[in-house]
Amino acid sequence: MDKKILFIGGGQMAEGIISGLIRQGVFAPDHIFVSDVVPQRLIHLKTTYSIIPTDDPTQAASCADVIFLAVRPQDVASACAGLENIMSERRDILLASIVAGVDLAALTAYTAPGQKIVRIMPNTLIQAQNGFSAACVNTHVNADDRQLIQTMLEALGQVMFLSEAKYDLFTAYSCVGPMYIYLMMHALIQAGVRTGFSREESYAITIKNTLGAAQMLELTGDHPLQRIDTMTSPGGVTIDALASLEEDAFVGTILKSMKASVDKTLSFK
Ligand SMILES: NC(=O)c1ccc[n+]([C@@H]2O[C@H](COP(=O)([O-])OP(=O)(O)OC[C@H]3O[C@@H](n4cnc5c(N)ncnc54)[C@H](OP(=O)(O)O)[C@@H]3O)[C@@H](O)[C@H]2O)c1
Repeated sequence: MDKKILFIGGGQMAEGIISGLIRQGVFAPDHIFVSDVVPQRLIHLKTTYSIIPTDDPTQAASCADVIFLAVRPQDVASACAGLENIMSERRDILLASIVAGVDLAALTAYTAPGQKIVRIMPNTLIQAQNGFSAACVNTHVNADDRQLIQTMLEALGQVMFLSEAKYDLFTAYSCVGPMYIYLMMHALIQAGVRTGFSREESYAITIKNTLGAAQMLELTGDHPLQRIDTMTSPGGVTIDALASLEEDAFVGTILKSMKASVDKTLSFK
């Protein structure tokens, strides 16, 4: 792609995204500009990824197609200082923001009227290049912009365009999601050790069972309970294991926990 992107904030999230964009060839390193108030971050990013560091974001912004805000919420105002003038001359610039809790209406305050804005919640499993990122766009974003957003986010995994109301729920549901899988995997590894397998054997079995089960659902389109039905023979081992979990309200426990996650997310609004 011949487009240029300016990252404002070169922290952990920006680095994960930059590495994905370069790895997938979405942006060439010399088309990626990064501004950060911490000089060591710029040195690190230049050394590792050959991006172009800049201490003059307004100058870099004037030749950018995408300005990507990746600072903490309290730094948004200072990070956007001076950008409004550039954007009023370049309405074609797409402002992308991963800043948590700063909605489209708030971002509009830092842009020129009619500016194209997208909020992005990046996939939390970028290195695996699997997992959904969410994108929420304002009304000025056109089909070409959506394609650009899709191309950028597919370098990190999969992408889902959502309304802003659902975008907030995405944090509670999708971003928290891997925690449930990791905790389940931890439990299975412990159970393996308890059963008499070595930690290494338990780890290997758990990883392949997890990957394989997910692939089976993706391949067949089956509901998980359909797969479980195929495994539970009458009077067999699996139905006893399942019955024990049901008695302890396994599904209800997950639903209750997810409700806590949603409530917490909504309490920030
Ligand atoms: N971490 C996650 O899992 C996650 C997920 C989704 C979204 N987000 C959002 O992504 C954003 C970045 O998160 P992060 O974990 O990458 O934060 P981070 O590691 O703190 O990176 C932000 C960087 O921006 C710098 N900065 C501050 N003000 C600046 C300015 N005016 N111009 C240029 N650079 C500036 C910071 O410097 P100082 O350290 O000196 O302030 C820091 O180096 C946050 O808003 C967060 O809500 C995070």
